[in-house]
Amino acid sequence: MITTITLNVSVDKAYRIAGSIQPGTVSRVLECINTAGGKGLNVARIIDFCGEKVTAAGFAGGFNGRYVESLLDQDGIHHDFTRTRSETRSCINILAEDETSTEFLEPGAPVDEGEIRAFLENFQRIAEESDVITISGSIPKGVPDDIYALMIREIKKKGKKVILDTSGTYLKEGIKAGPTMIKPNKEELEAILGMEITDRNRTIEAAVELMKYGIEYVVVSLGGDGAMVVSREGIFHGRPPRLKAVNTVGCGDSMVGAFAVAMRRSLLIQEALAYAVAVSAANAVNPETGHIRMEDVDEILPKVTVRRLNVQKPEI
Ligand SMILES: Nc1ncnc2c1ncn2[C@@H]1O[C@H](COP(=O)(O)OP(=O)(O)OP(=O)(O)O)[C@@H](O)[C@H]1O
Ligand SMILES: [Mg+2]
Repeated sequence: MITTITLNVSVDKAYRIAGSIQPGTVSRVLECINTAGGKGLNVARIIDFCGEKVTAAGFAGGFNGRYVESLLDQDGIHHDFTRTRSETRSCINILAEDETSTEFLEPGAPVDEGEIRAFLENFQRIAEESDVITISGSIPKGVPDDIYALMIREIKKKGKKVILDTSGTYLKEGIKAGPTMIKPNKEELEAILGMEITDRNRTIEAAVELMKYGIEYVVVSLGGDGAMVVSREGIFHGRPPRLKAVNTVGCGDSMVGAFAVAMRRSLLIQEALAYAVAVSAANAVNPETGHIRMEDVDEILPKVTVRRLNVQKPEI
């Protein structure tokens, strides 16, 4: 089984309005679409689309927490959240007719120490039952910055695999525990290293540097150019075919979901990369965030190219 960890879930509300946003006036919402939000929940949906058993875990609280669970039930996604007394946040995205998108993200109510302890206890069992665990996104207030590092150490102690996809301090702290895989995009990689990355060689050097923490696979995602994997097995660049992207939100989450599926199926890293590039491209051609059609994956996969880069293998 694969488990996705999302500590900061939300009820995502997309409001469609006529015309444009007019500050200081009343706008009538034409349509409201509610979805269970949080990067890890996109990952869970993708794993489910790919046909692997998945459980979504993290914190959920109050009526909104129950609502997130019922939305996941509707999608047929199994969940195992630790309850919090504080209400799960809502995030609002106003999609106006003039094609602008205006987001309001609630900060998320704090989680208390007892709830963190309860989560970490549940997590021991969850980690025991899982083959692969993904950890995505930000953390709510009250939770220590190094909680991902703590979780990663536990997962590794149990001999399980873990993919970490986050940013800023959580990523900086998390990598120190040596997750199996990380998937920074260029900006996240630059933020970890505190320097600009201008070319491919510098990207590879940066990835090799990170492997010193015990990370086996550093996947650098490059948007429409695909992704690069730096590993002991070699350095590979996977590219999608030319296609018409309509919504690239959630492409990173789709890639993480696909890599988790590939790990569960013990694919070679080259095969895993091709699969992840195809799945994330299938998300890009679909208007719905974090949704793929398997027909698109089947069509794209044979057209993905994976090239071994002839640079010296990392000496780790
Ligand atoms: N326009 C596109 N066409 C085809 N594939 C794409 C496109 N954009 C992204 N992808 C695929 O999705 C992967 C992840 O995308 P990206 O590098 O944008 O991640 P990200 O910045 O982490 O995204 P997210 O906003 O979901 O966190 C890429 O490595 C690529 O394989
Ligand atoms: Mg991302």
